[in-house]
Amino acid sequence: MSGALRVALADRAAACYRPCGQWAWRFARGKLRGDPMYAALLDPVLLPDRARVLDLGCGKALVAAWLAAAANLFRQGDWPPALPPPPSPVGYHGIERSAADVAVASRALAGLSWLRIAGGDLRHVQLPPADVVLLLDVLHYLEPEAQYALLARVRDQISGGGRLLLRVGDAGASAGYRISAAVDRLVCLARGQPPRLHGRSLDGWRELLDDLALDVHSLPMSDGTPFANTLLLARPR
Ligand SMILES: C[S@@+](CC[C@H](N)C(=O)[O-])C[C@H]1O[C@@H](n2cnc3c(N)ncnc32)[C@H](O)[C@@H]1O
Repeated sequence: MSGALRVALADRAAACYRPCGQWAWRFARGKLRGDPMYAALLDPVLLPDRARVLDLGCGKALVAAWLAAAANLFRQGDWPPALPPPPSPVGYHGIERSAADVAVASRALAGLSWLRIAGGDLRHVQLPPADVVLLLDVLHYLEPEAQYALLARVRDQISGGGRLLLRVGDAGASAGYRISAAVDRLVCLARGQPPRLHGRSLDGWRELLDDLALDVHSLPMSDGTPFANTLLLARPR
């Protein structure tokens, strides 16, 4: 994807957050412009068209805003013919424990008929059916036993041919991981949450998924950022 398209999409998607205030809008615009993961999610090899997407720890539901912006551009005929059509979900269900983020996402994306955002703790909440489960920069907030238990429930949910997209930091990559962990701890403190993180090395994440009978394909996902992130595409064996 060209840089110009990425910026145009980011700005369109972020515009939904304007009614939620300057901070929400600027955060969305900065994250969508700067994080290479969002462009990757438009690849139908990763995110198939017409999927029921379950976004666990969805934050402000930036993925939904991004997919909606791409689908709008495509419908208007402004999509580059050299690119495959962007995936358009039939449903997007976000679950998030921060009530403030649930409120922002619900207000910003109120016009999307296929969207549902619910408050809840991933350690206890029931998982609705899905074809694609997203766990993007989330799992390291959960204790190791809770990571295992959640992934086991996700695996059962996608056992009929679905997939899990998991973005993780590599705790074995010293500098990049230290930077992202420092940012995450600051966010926890700002939210009044304990700044405890439970990262693993990239090999550790792969072993965890392997233990759960999930086959994994990994794609480095921190180009242009100071972080050490990888996107893992996992499917039940
Ligand atoms: C770094 S943010 C990522 C947000 C989103 N996935 C994205 O990529 O934009 C991590 C999110 O996980 C949420 N989270 C952490 N632990 C959670 C839990 N136990 N239940 C629900 N959400 C949780 C946090 O509140 C936060 O919004």
